[in-house]
Amino acid sequence: MIELKNLSKTFQTADGDFQALENISLTVRDGDIFGIVGMSGAGKSTLVRCINLLERPTSGQVLIDGLVEGEAGPMDLCRMTPAQLRQARRSISMIFQQFNLLMQRTCLKNICFPMEIAGVPADQARKRALELLELVGLPDKASAYPAQLSGGQKQRIAIARALASDPKVLLCDEATSALDPTTTRSILRLIQDINRRLGITVVVITHEMAVVEEICSHVAILDHGRLMESGTVQEVFSNPKTEEGRKLVNPDGARVARMFPSSRIIRVVFNGGSAYEPLVASLAIDCGVKANILGADTKNIDGKAFGYILLGLPEDPEQAARAMSYIRSQKDVMVEEGMDEHG
Ligand SMILES: Nc1ncnc2c1ncn2[C@@H]1O[C@H](COP(=O)(O)OP(=O)(O)O)[C@@H](O)[C@H]1O
Ligand SMILES: [Mg+2]
Repeated sequence: MIELKNLSKTFQTADGDFQALENISLTVRDGDIFGIVGMSGAGKSTLVRCINLLERPTSGQVLIDGLVEGEAGPMDLCRMTPAQLRQARRSISMIFQQFNLLMQRTCLKNICFPMEIAGVPADQARKRALELLELVGLPDKASAYPAQLSGGQKQRIAIARALASDPKVLLCDEATSALDPTTTRSILRLIQDINRRLGITVVVITHEMAVVEEICSHVAILDHGRLMESGTVQEVFSNPKTEEGRKLVNPDGARVARMFPSSRIIRVVFNGGSAYEPLVASLAIDCGVKANILGADTKNIDGKAFGYILLGLPEDPEQAARAMSYIRSQKDVMVEEGMDEHG
């Protein structure tokens, strides 16, 4: 388990102190694929770098268990001795948007690199590297150089290298942000496969909601260095609680609501039950109320339909009230009133 407790990070800059992270507390359970999302500059990379102490938090704790031999229970990385920290870091691997491969080394030698540093005998390292090439689906690229590979292949080699130290945790900082959608999906599949087969806990940092939808079980929303909300992807994506969450999950809400400023806008949230079309149709047929669909986004998460529609109700208060009570009577549906311009 990874537990961040009251984590803060302040950078000293020429213009004074800048607080990049403010009192972040969150828990990532073993075996989770945990997403951390936010706009550019939200503090995602800083947060993920605090997990392996590439960045030392200004205050707070980074508690992880099982990384240091002979130590039962969670240990705070900030309080480890240098030797303990070196050992702990070997169990926390990281992959990046720009792959960070050594260009003058072959793929095989890139994968061997962390094992060389750890003092693994050369023949043993080579054997393991060949297995890892197989695992990431590139058994024929052992003697290729990174420059000869596509972006997706480079990230596969970077993943193989990250796995060379038999990590317990894999940190992915925008690992698919430089890749096209199809390649992104194949890399996400690989990460998911690694998580399931090797039981590695994965923390995924991304500004792309689609990435979180695709592979994460849990998600936290970061905004200006603060944790706005967190929970299962189902909970947070089907019904974000904060304005920042709604802006990320439903970026179109703002635009849509501005287009219909006079409408009374409600948000109808579906929690794995009926789809939205029958509801809007039956609203018209059963209640005689015509509602405008101002925006909609339904998603398939874990085989269940989730999502929301933004409905513009008639100006007439009596009709609007009739519509509200009808929608409220539906099961698996939640209604929020008084949407502002942020949907
Ligand atoms: N070493 C640093 N010194 C000063 N400011 C920094 C440093 N690293 C990051 N920041 C600032 O912290 C904020 C968060 O950065 P970052 O964690 O990279 O965000 P994200 O990954 O979400 O885009 C940004 O405003 C960035 O300019
Ligand atoms: Mg970043």
